[in-house]
Amino acid sequence: MQGQRQGLLEGKVALITGASSGIGAAAARVFAREGAALVLVARREERLAALVEELREQGARARYAVADVTVRTDAEAAVADAVEAFGRLDCAFNNAGWGLGRTPLHEMDDDLYHRIMDVNVGGVWNFLRPEIAAMLETGGGSIVNNSSVGGLLATPVAAPYVAAKHAVVGLTKAAAAEYAARGIRVNAVAPGTTRTEVVQEWFAAVPGIEAQLHAGTPQPRTAEPYEIAEAAAWLCSDRASFVTGVTMPVDGGFTMV
Ligand SMILES: NC(=O)c1ccc[n+]([C@@H]2O[C@H](COP(=O)([O-])OP(=O)(O)OC[C@H]3O[C@@H](n4cnc5c(N)ncnc54)[C@H](O)[C@@H]3O)[C@@H](O)[C@H]2O)c1
Repeated sequence: MQGQRQGLLEGKVALITGASSGIGAAAARVFAREGAALVLVARREERLAALVEELREQGARARYAVADVTVRTDAEAAVADAVEAFGRLDCAFNNAGWGLGRTPLHEMDDDLYHRIMDVNVGGVWNFLRPEIAAMLETGGGSIVNNSSVGGLLATPVAAPYVAAKHAVVGLTKAAAAEYAARGIRVNAVAPGTTRTEVVQEWFAAVPGIEAQLHAGTPQPRTAEPYEIAEAAAWLCSDRASFVTGVTMPVDGGFTMV
C-alpha cells in the first residue's frame, strides 16, 4: 500500500459516554490516537477536564459535556454540543453503564432494579435518538453500544444487569435494522471481565474471584480497558462498513465455551 498511513477514525467526530473512567476513558485515548475529534460525556467534570487536557496536549481535538445519561435532555444537549462544535456527528460509543450487583434476585429491591435499567438501557436509549437524528442530517454514521458478556448469557446474582445488557443487544439490533438502508450502522461490544477501577475493587473485596474467572476463560486473564476500546474503534470506523446489528464479544473466548 502506498501513501501516508491514516488513523482508523481520521476526520471523524465521535461522542463517548462514560468517558471519565475505565473503558470509556481508554476509548477516548484510542479514538484520539486514531484521529477522531471527540466529545467526552460523563458526570464527573474534573476527570473529564483532565482527560480533555491530556488529549489536547497530544494534538487531539477534544471537548467534554457533563451529562447524566439517564436524563434525556442531557443527552440531547451533549449531542447538540458535538454538532455545534465540530459540525457533525459520525460515531458514538454509548459506553456508560453500571451495576453488576451481588444480590440474589428474590432479595433485590425495586430501586436497584430501576437504577440498573435506567443507566444501562435508558442511557443507551436517551443517546441513540439524538445521535441517529444528527447522523441522518449528514448521510449516516456508526454507533457502538456497550453491552457485556452478561448480555449474551446469564451469570448468577446479577439479574437486572443481565436483563439490561440483553436489552442493549436488542436495542442494537432494532436500531441497526431500522437505519441500515439510511447509512447508519449500529453494533455492540460485549466485554468480558475488564480491569477497571470497579473491577479492581471487586477483586480486592472477593478473594479468589479473579482466579475463578480466569479458570472459566479460554484466554485465562482479565481484559485491559484498551482491548475493549480497540474493538469499539474498529466497529465505529469505515473499515467495518458492512458490519451492522452485531454484538461482538471481547472476552478471551468466555462466551464460546
Ligand atoms: N469492567 C468490566 O468488567 C465490564 C464488563 C462488561 C461490560 N462492562 C460495561 O462497560 C461499560 C464501562 O464500564 P467500566 O468497567 O469502564 O466502569 P466505570 O465505572 O469505570 O465506567 C463507567 C462510566 O460510566 C459513567 N456513568 C455511570 N452512570 C452514569 C450516568 N448515569 N450518567 C453518566 N455517566 C455515567 C461512569 O461515571 C463512568 O465514566 C459499562 O457499560 C459496563 O457495564 C464492563
